[in-house]
Amino acid sequence: MDRPILVTGGTGTLGRPLVARLLADGVPVRVMSRRPRRADDDRPYEWAVCDLADGTGLDAALADVRAVVHCATNARNDAATTRRLAGAARRAGVPHLVYVSIVGIDEVPLPYYRSKLEAERIVRGSGVPWTVLRTTQFHDLVAMLTTVQRRLPVVLTPSGVRFQPVEVAEVADRLAELAQGAPAGRVPDMAGPEVRDARDLAAATLRAAGLRRRVVPLRLPGRIVRSLRAGGNLAPDRAVGTGTFEEYLAARGRAGR
Ligand SMILES: NC(=O)c1ccc[n+]([C@@H]2O[C@H](COP(=O)([O-])OP(=O)(O)OC[C@H]3O[C@@H](n4cnc5c(N)ncnc54)[C@H](OP(=O)(O)O)[C@@H]3O)[C@@H](O)[C@H]2O)c1
Repeated sequence: MDRPILVTGGTGTLGRPLVARLLADGVPVRVMSRRPRRADDDRPYEWAVCDLADGTGLDAALADVRAVVHCATNARNDAATTRRLAGAARRAGVPHLVYVSIVGIDEVPLPYYRSKLEAERIVRGSGVPWTVLRTTQFHDLVAMLTTVQRRLPVVLTPSGVRFQPVEVAEVADRLAELAQGAPAGRVPDMAGPEVRDARDLAAATLRAAGLRRRVVPLRLPGRIVRSLRAGGNLAPDRAVGTGTFEEYLAARGRAGR
């Protein structure tokens, strides 16, 4: 039996389609999660309980893997967990560490983005052969910016900010390909097919959800919004994704979400 690919964050928005893609490719998979496996989960992968916040279970999770795709994130700071993972991967002799990062982390001074930049640096210097893919926001995240406001009388968006959301299943396909290939260093960024105004994306999300709300663009101050208005989060020359935001919304509607 081939050695498995370990997917950290294998239960998350990106990890789930990545695990499915690898299994469909016939690749043995080990899913990392902080939680024990559900009793009714009979899918054909291994399960490793591990908390990257303190390293519990990490050595067992890394034992005899052919590659690690690092999708776990705590949405505040990716650096400490990535340092712990990369150090243990080097000691375990892992042949390939794939890290998923975000377009524009060196342009947009969000604290989370700074931690991703640091995590990329850690991966590069880890001594483990590596690949880093930066992508734009997934459709799910962009829709969520609107749906979290559904109980408010209006939906607020940052004026002048655009997004270029990408279909997460396509990111998963690309990561699966990268994880099965040789370490490639920083590969070309991956962005969605359309650059769209945040207001327009909010209106589309509301329409798809059958919600009637006014979208109110707010002129926000500060360096973060300024860098977003300047397009720091976009990669128009890397619009390689094909799934549009409307296609995502329609599929979500059909799935009853
Ligand atoms: N969302 C986007 O739009 C977007 C865009 C570009 C890049 N990315 C990057 O893609 C990656 C995945 O994002 P996502 O949206 O799929 O995240 P997500 O849905 O929030 O999933 C986070 C995952 O991290 C795991 N996790 C969290 N803390 C952990 C810990 N201490 N130890 C072990 N596992 C832990 C969770 O597993 P359990 O809860 O099962 O433990 C979960 O599977 C991130 O690096 C993110 O920066 C995301």
